[in-house]
Amino acid sequence: MNALACIAACLTVLLAVAGPAAAQSLAPTTGHTLAATCTSCHGPGGRSPGAMPSINGRSEAEIAKTMHEFKDDSRPATVMNRHAKGFSDGEIAAIAKEVASWR
Ligand code: HEC
Repeated sequence: MNALACIAACLTVLLAVAGPAAAQSLAPTTGHTLAATCTSCHGPGGRSPGAMPSINGRSEAEIAKTMHEFKDDSRPATVMNRHAKGFSDGEIAAIAKEVASWR
């Protein structure tokens, strides 16, 4: 194999490996890690022991919708509006999936 053929072959392999990973963009653990921060206010498993609303038992779509409403200020909030602005749309999707999986 000459050098040019090698470069072409290697690039093909690299693109094949990097393509799906780049398209996915978020690590599989992202939702798990980010959603762990929610429990400090909303309680373990999203079951709030106090004044905070419980977020346990909600669907993925409902959590995502609410987070987007907080993010674009269409839902009144004291804390969550600021909190939600820190997450990208992809991160909100990952968080919603994780929170909806809590039982
Ligand atoms: C600093 C405390 C705090 C943290 C951390 C926090 N929340 Fe909240 N959350 C609140 C408060 C307070 C409300 C009530 C709305 C408001 O005043 O902001 C709320 C409301 C919500 C609601 C709407 C519940 C309802 O019944 O109206 C959802 C959904 C929610 N939070 C999801 C999350 C998710 C998902 C995370 C983690 C990414 C998170 N929250 C992290 C304090 C927090």
